[in-house]
Amino acid sequence: MTDSATATATERPKPNGLEGVVAASTELSHVFGEEGKLVYRGYDIHELAGKASFEEVAHLLWVGHLPNRTELADLEEKFGANRQLPEAVIEGIRELPRNANPMDALRTGVSMLGANDPTLYDNEPDLDEAIGLAARFPAILATFFRHREGHEPIQGRSDYNTAQNYLYQLFGKEPEERHWKPLETYLVLLADHGLNASTFTSRVIASTESDLCSSLTGAVGALKGPAHGGAPAKVLDMLNEIGSADNVESWLTNALDSGQRLMGFGHRVYKAEDPRAEILRGMAETASSPEFFELSKRTEDRALAMLEERKPGRRLYTNVEFYSAAVLAAVGLPGDMFPPTFAVARAVGWSAHVLEQCANNRLIRPASEYVGPTGLTFKPIDER
Ligand code: ACO
Repeated sequence: MTDSATATATERPKPNGLEGVVAASTELSHVFGEEGKLVYRGYDIHELAGKASFEEVAHLLWVGHLPNRTELADLEEKFGANRQLPEAVIEGIRELPRNANPMDALRTGVSMLGANDPTLYDNEPDLDEAIGLAARFPAILATFFRHREGHEPIQGRSDYNTAQNYLYQLFGKEPEERHWKPLETYLVLLADHGLNASTFTSRVIASTESDLCSSLTGAVGALKGPAHGGAPAKVLDMLNEIGSADNVESWLTNALDSGQRLMGFGHRVYKAEDPRAEILRGMAETASSPEFFELSKRTEDRALAMLEERKPGRRLYTNVEFYSAAVLAAVGLPGDMFPPTFAVARAVGWSAHVLEQCANNRLIRPASEYVGPTGLTFKPIDER
């Protein structure tokens, strides 16, 4: 590197990660960060959580209003009719190593669906494609989950809703209400969330006039990182490592002293408590064991106090992922299935954003600030 290039590089501004930049307009959902409020098409999330089914919320996001009975029956029927995977996709999933990360298996499965039927997933995404793909996310995951356990995949059931069917396809037995009900509320809470990183990814891909499978494949990749949807698996690891309420203080102190971020805390947009965290906390109290809830609550309380002490003014609060861990563990899922279960919910939001993007599209192509050198001349390899 030349001296002038080094000098230029040191002037590089700290990246702002597009914080505060409005990159799309949407009618789908909005995060009111200062108030700690989340709205889907005008409905506060508290209006929907525990009251609306996942399919009702999917209809709200995709179509624009809560369905009447006929519309809901029609949507449920379409979900039910799309739970099977093509044989080639099942075979492809079976080729994956059993120790693959389930997010990688999901990303691969979604991509395989597109390659398996390129005429279906053309460059004009529509509602039927969105329903078909959202309905198949659980099937991909369950096929992989059963493959790694050494079991055959189970055909989805059209008489079950999404939450029931997901548990049925995973575990092969009738899902208990104490498991599928909290899972359903979780899916409602996670269905959409403004222009988060994975949703932005799906809209960028859609803006190139690509297909829906490509948009959702990219979105799964963006969701995987711990700064986004990969956090809840790490929350469970953290709580397991802490192990007991007596150990909370020293574990958190060590983690923060060594510069680690505490999983399940902080958010780019929320500068108040994430409303989903509040709802999930209540669910965790009922669904998880008293010991695990006590450990979670003690960890949360101390983490909030320590973050306030060490990062004053940063306004770091509990985010959705912290109590997602307790709720999903209580539902019977292992930690590494938490992030892809988030994707089962968000497949609805992602595809709704893709449809919205396509209805009023312009290629998303931002600019960059060039901070590298200019005017260099080529020298043949032996002269360098
Ligand atoms: N633990 C410790 N410190 C934190 C945390 C945390 N969880 N989150 C932020 N901070 C600190 C940062 O170190 C930084 O401190 P500094 O200003 O002294 O350097 C300050 O708070 C501001 O942090 P940013 O990096 O500017 O926050 P950003 O908006 O980029 O990040 C994020 C948000 C990625 C969610 C971050 O809070 C984080 O890493 N949290 C832990 C992982 C997590 O919970 N991810 C799930 C997010 S929710 C979701 O996507 C569904």
